[in-house]
Amino acid sequence: MSYSLKDRKVLITGGSKGLGWAIAQKFAAQGSHIAINYASDTEKARTASDTLRQQYGVRTHICQGDMSDASDIQNVVASTTDALGGLDVIVSNTAWTRFSSFADLDALSDEEWEKCYRINVLGSLRLMKAAKKIFESNPDGGVFLYTASTAGASISGSSMAYSVTKAAGLQLMKCLAQTQGPYIRVNSVLPGLLLTDWEFIRDWEKATPLKSIPEVSHCADMYVSIAQNKSMTGQQIEIGMSAQSTLSKIGVSVLRANSHDLGNRLRLVTHPLMNKISNSQHLGD
Ligand SMILES: NC(=O)c1ccc[n+]([C@@H]2O[C@H](COP(=O)([O-])OP(=O)(O)OC[C@H]3O[C@@H](n4cnc5c(N)ncnc54)[C@H](OP(=O)(O)O)[C@@H]3O)[C@@H](O)[C@H]2O)c1
Repeated sequence: MSYSLKDRKVLITGGSKGLGWAIAQKFAAQGSHIAINYASDTEKARTASDTLRQQYGVRTHICQGDMSDASDIQNVVASTTDALGGLDVIVSNTAWTRFSSFADLDALSDEEWEKCYRINVLGSLRLMKAAKKIFESNPDGGVFLYTASTAGASISGSSMAYSVTKAAGLQLMKCLAQTQGPYIRVNSVLPGLLLTDWEFIRDWEKATPLKSIPEVSHCADMYVSIAQNKSMTGQQIEIGMSAQSTLSKIGVSVLRANSHDLGNRLRLVTHPLMNKISNSQHLGD
């Protein structure tokens, strides 16, 4: 029998926008009660929470908290458990990057490397530590899902720090899966390029094997599927192609209009020659 998601209590970090919001809707559609963590945009989180309650009749909770901060992470887990009456599933979905050239070793400061590590790696470890006892006291244990990226499994992505920390996050998930069973299942989803906030897309799909652009909703489906599968831990599922391989085929460069966080809009610029791309390349995954 699969692990039913009905009446499970699910915390999604970065759950108010983008992929996190798509995941929140998928779990709510299964009858899960949802806690949405966010950083600063309270109005967006409230709207998301209201939408879930109205559309799916589930209980919801919003919890502000910075995933780079240890005490915020503890508060988010504690307030979710109080508000929803327990905690069964965590989707660790928040990440940080700044779009920059891999070739320029000074592109990111030491502080930015450390910030990237704190959110993309340490944040997940801290979430697991905060939830471990709760998961282990549940009759059906707990589920931990990590949003990685194809950038963590190839030399690609928005910055070298992002690629390196997503790779580290994947390794952390394997370590946790190996050591935190039998009551806790730990798996990773590696999205390729997702069309969360695109301004302009041209010819993208031509380079993909399926001749289509990966849909955020299809990626979100995978979290539900993995959570339901009681026989799976320590696994990594890729959705869509790596942006690196896609870009190298169609010759495009992707830049965020404001490169300081993952939530800003993207701009797609065509380049006729790949050597131009390698000089200016900023990838979206
Ligand atoms: N988009 C892609 O192409 C792509 C590809 C591969 C992997 N991914 C991965 O998918 C995940 C989601 O990406 P996305 O593009 O959907 O992101 P997004 O749209 O930028 O998601 C933003 C969400 O994260 C929250 N957030 C930002 N910084 C936070 C922090 N320090 N602490 C807590 N919450 C924070 C935001 O809250 P506020 O709005 O309140 O700030 C919002 O809820 C990331 O792990 C990313 O690496 C994305």
